[in-house]
Amino acid sequence: MSKLTIVAFDGTRNDLDVANGTTVMENAVRNSVPGIEAECGGACACATCHVYVDDAWSAVVGPPEAMEEDMLDFAYDVRPTSRLSCQIKMSDALDGLVVHVPERQA
Ligand code: FES
Repeated sequence: MSKLTIVAFDGTRNDLDVANGTTVMENAVRNSVPGIEAECGGACACATCHVYVDDAWSAVVGPPEAMEEDMLDFAYDVRPTSRLSCQIKMSDALDGLVVHVPERQA
């Protein structure tokens, strides 16, 4: 298990205990965190699971791979810390991860 905090656009913190191997998107949907639509179900094909990785975690999470980066072109208000949450898999290394939900999805 790891800790994952998803901060909704209105500032509400969703502090979750999540299983390693699950994605940030899966945990957001499972816990009804507002603002994560995930229309493609995690196939890296919709860009509606866009999040901003907290600055403190950006280097640990790392940059998107090429396919994810291409999809991010379709996301709204992309920033240097933008990632698609279906492509971030929880692990011991990400225990305590904080991500922020954007104002809206694409
Ligand atoms: S759920 Fe569609 S790209 Fe992440």
